[in-house]
Order: sequence, then structure tokens, then C-alpha cells
Amino acid sequence: MLSTPQTIRLAEKSDLPLLNAALAALSAELDDPHPATPEFLEQAGFGPLPAFYALIAQSRPDVLDGAIMFSPVTSTSMASTGSFVSDLWVAESTRGSGLGRRLLAAAADWSAAKWGAGYIKLAVYDQSVKSRQFYDRLGFVPKDSETTMFLDKSGFETLKGCK
Ligand SMILES: CC(C)(COP(=O)(O)OP(=O)(O)OC[C@H]1O[C@@H](n2cnc3c(N)ncnc32)[C@H](O)[C@@H]1OP(=O)(O)O)[C@@H](O)C(=O)NCCC(=O)NCCS
Repeated sequence: MLSTPQTIRLAEKSDLPLLNAALAALSAELDDPHPATPEFLEQAGFGPLPAFYALIAQSRPDVLDGAIMFSPVTSTSMASTGSFVSDLWVAESTRGSGLGRRLLAAAADWSAAKWGAGYIKLAVYDQSVKSRQFYDRLGFVPKDSETTMFLDKSGFETLKGCK
């Protein structure tokens, strides 16, 4: 029997508890800590200058089938704005049905319409072999000449004072 594809829509403030639960499930799967709360998500994504946008897929009231979070990014070497996908998660029971691709496509459409995005950038953990295969399948390629660098909160605070 063919099931109806889930509608994908922009997350609203009232969706944040469910969105945070989905992101917590993703963190658990990746063995990451998850200090984020719905309050943090509201502060980060629903202020005057949102630091992220989220699209969600939901077919039942109390749970999400999938979610994607993304933010604007810019490349001068491509002279293009893009979308940085920080989180992508599909519920285990829904995997393999095309929802991950649909969420990425929806984020591409949305960011192209809102800020003219023309590419996607994201990071995938070395141990996330299946996710890497998924991205490979969709045409993503690694940038071998590039290393992801990270300045943590304490380093960031120290740097801020170094004007
Ligand atoms: C990665 C993830 C988002 C993929 O979502 P999904 O809904 O299962 O993937 P889709 O059904 O949309 O698959 C899209 C295509 O990728 C392929 N694909 C998906 N997983 C694959 C795998 N492990 N190996 C090879 N191909 C794969 C599918 O076959 C499909 O290709 P096709 O249409 O030609 O058959 C999902 O598995 C997930 O949430 N994983 C756990 C969380 C995670 O690791 N997120 C990413 C963090 S970087």
C-alpha cells in the first residue's frame, strides 16, 4: 500500500519541544551531548536575526518523522550564497522512504528562495558511514583540501576580548 508523503513545513515556536526531541535523538545516535533545550532553540532561531531555520515532517501529532536545520553561508570563491546544513535526521522507522532527500531538497528550495542559496555545505562524522553513503548517493563530494576548524566557547570568549 502506498502511504501519503509527509508534508514538509517550516518549524514554528510551538514545534520546538518536538524539534528538540528529534535533535536529541540525532545527538544520541551520533554519541554527541545534547545540552540544547526548546528555550535555546527559540532564542537562536526566532529572534530578529535567526541563526537557523528548521523544516520538519510530521504525520502524527506527538512526534516528528524528520527534521533539517540550516543557516546562510557565503563563498567568495564561488561568488554564491549557500546553505549550511547543521542537522538532518529521519526517524528510524521512516528511513529509506525518500524523506531525507525530500528534507534536503526542501531546505535547498527554501534557502534558494530566501537568500539566493546556490549550494549546500555540511559536515559528516567519519564514523557515520551510512550517512556518508546517503550524501554520496545524492551527489555530495568531500573537500579533501579542507579541514573543519572549531573555536570552542572558551576560546571564543578569549578571542572576543582581543581587539
Ligand atoms: C542519513 C538519513 C538522513 C538519510 O535519510 P533517509 O530518509 O533514510 O534517506 P532517503 O530514503 O531519502 O535516501 C535517499 C537516497 O540515498 C540512498 N541511501 C540512503 N541511505 C543509504 C545508505 N546507507 N547507503 C547507500 N545509499 C543510501 C537511498 O537509497 C536513496 O537513493 P535512491 O533514491 O537512488 O534509492 C537518515 O538515515 C538518518 O537520519 N540517519 C541518522 C542520522 C544521521 O546520521 N544524520 C546525518 C548527520 S550528518
